[in-house]
This record gives sequence, structure tokens and C-alpha cells, in this order.
Amino acid sequence: MNFKEELDVKTRNVEKIIYSYLPKEEGFAKNLAEAMNYSMKAGGKRLRPLFMQETFHLFGGEGKVIEPFMAAMEMIHTHSLVHDDLPALDNDEYRRGKKTTHAVFGQAQAILCGDALLNYAYETAFLAFSMCEDPVRVGRALQILGEKAGIYGMLGGQALDVQNDGNPLTAEQLDYIYANKTSALIEGAMMTGAALAGASEEEIFLIESVGYRVGLAFQIQDDILDVTSTREELGKPVFSDVKNRKTTYVTLRGVEEAQKEVRRLSEEALETLGELESTNLFLNGLIRFLITRKK
Ligand code: IPE
Ligand code: IPE
Ligand code: MG
Ligand code: MG
Ligand code: MG
Repeated sequence: MNFKEELDVKTRNVEKIIYSYLPKEEGFAKNLAEAMNYSMKAGGKRLRPLFMQETFHLFGGEGKVIEPFMAAMEMIHTHSLVHDDLPALDNDEYRRGKKTTHAVFGQAQAILCGDALLNYAYETAFLAFSMCEDPVRVGRALQILGEKAGIYGMLGGQALDVQNDGNPLTAEQLDYIYANKTSALIEGAMMTGAALAGASEEEIFLIESVGYRVGLAFQIQDDILDVTSTREELGKPVFSDVKNRKTTYVTLRGVEEAQKEVRRLSEEALETLGELESTNLFLNGLIRFLITRKK
């Protein structure tokens, strides 16, 4: 199997795990469950749970304890997307090749859908306590998950991002936004994988710095694709950042410089991973693959 085939097989497997933790579409809250499942099943690259699983394997993790955390991470990520697309934020009509949740279910249900996904993420992750012999690892992973999703993570970054549509940003503000709105969940994914496998605090810290660089590279590439791709290929509108008059790495430095930065950051991430005793060739391949991703 070449890398792309392996990635497809693994992504399908991740998807199967995620689907097994989705809420049931029944009862008076059926419409809410349908909105949650609509956004969760719309597709997407499933990169965060994949990063989590691969980091778990890098540190020799075994068993199913990782699975509720993989589903939880994709729920938190999807909650961020459902809310990011709302008219009050980026106001986008397409996501993962489909109409956005607010376009299909209305704004009120989309807001509640995002809330419910965030909460269900923790309901799901808590299931891991009954699936492992070491509850301390699960506790540590929950602590990471909570922090990386909140005000000192993704939500802090999103807040400064949307607050500054139309404003010029300093390099320092832009760094804060990327480090939080995007890197935080990738750091969190990799760090929970490491924690659940029993990695040491030093190793978790090293993995955080890998996730930080992978996340920055990922967001810069997202900004590049916003101005170079098509809606068909990307599954979401292009020129969304232009429409919202956002300062991005691309508006500050141009596409070519941005591409160089994606490569530089990814290579740094790989170098840092190389300091560990164990290696996961697929994980390294994934980081390399993302440098030239087209969606
Ligand atoms: C989109 O993330 C939001 C960003 C952080 C740029 P992805 O590009 O991973 O979105 P999906 O999950 O594949 O739809
Ligand atoms: C969003 O950044 C990061 C999130 C936390 C959702 P963008 O606003 O650039 O993400 P896309 O381009 O809509 O996926
Ligand atoms: Mg946004
Ligand atoms: Mg957006
Ligand atoms: Mg974007």
C-alpha cells in the first residue's frame, strides 16, 4: 500500500469509530440529534482523531481507550466549524461539500447543535474511564482536551479572530490566533494520544510543540487554499477570508512566502519528532503529506 491508500483505509476506520459514538435520532430532541449527525457525517478529513490515534501508537498505546477520545475530538472540532460558519462569525454556506448546518437547520438549531456537540464530546470521552486500567491517564487526557478547546485554546483564538475582521493585525496577534484557533486542537489531539498511551510529561510537552507547528502550517495552508482553490475541491467557499477582510499570513506575506513557511514549520515538526526514541512512519508521512494538501 502506498501512503495515500493507507491514509484512505485509516480515515475510513476513524470514521467508523466516530459513527459508533454519535447520538440516536429519537425522542423530542430528535431534530437536535439530526443536526449533530448531519454535521458529523458530512465528511471532512478526520485529521485530528487520526493524529490522536497515530500518536497513541507512537507511544505504544494499545486497546480501545483511545476511541471515545477520537470521537470526542472530532465532535469538538465539528462544533467549532458549525459555529465558525454562522452568519455572526464567518457567514459561510458550504462546509465539507454540503450546505452548512445553519443553512439546513436554521441558526437557532445550529447554535444548539454546536453547544450539544461540545457537551457530547465530554459525555463521550468520560466513557473511557470504564475502558482502561489506568484512570489517571484518562484524567490527564480530559484535562488536556478541556484546556485546548476552551478560552486558553481554540475558543480564545476564534474570539480574537472574529473580533478583528476588517482590522490589521500585528504579527503577535496573528500568531496568537493561529496558535489557538487551529494549533490548540491539533496539539490536544496529539497530546491526549500520548497521555492515554502513558507517555511521560516531558514527552507530552515535546508532542505539544510538534502539534503547535503542524497546526500553524495547517492554518497557513488553509489560508493559501482560501485564495488558490475552488469550492468544488475544497468543499467550502473560497475567498471567505477576503469577504470577511481578515488579516492572514497570506495577506501579510503573500502566497509564495506562506508556502515556504508551511514547509519550514512541517520540517521543524518532523525534526522534533525525531528526538523521540520511537518512530511512527505513517505519522511522519502524514505531516509531510499535509505540506502540499489541496483540501
Ligand atoms: C478546518 O479544519 C478548520 C481549520 C482549522 C482550518 P479542517 O480542514 O481539518 O476541516 P475538515 O474536518 O477536513 O472539514
Ligand atoms: C477556523 O479558521 C478555525 C476554527 C476553529 C473553526 P477558518 O475560519 O479559516 O476555518 P475555515 O476556513 O472556515 O474552515
Ligand atoms: Mg473563521
Ligand atoms: Mg471559517
Ligand atoms: Mg479558512
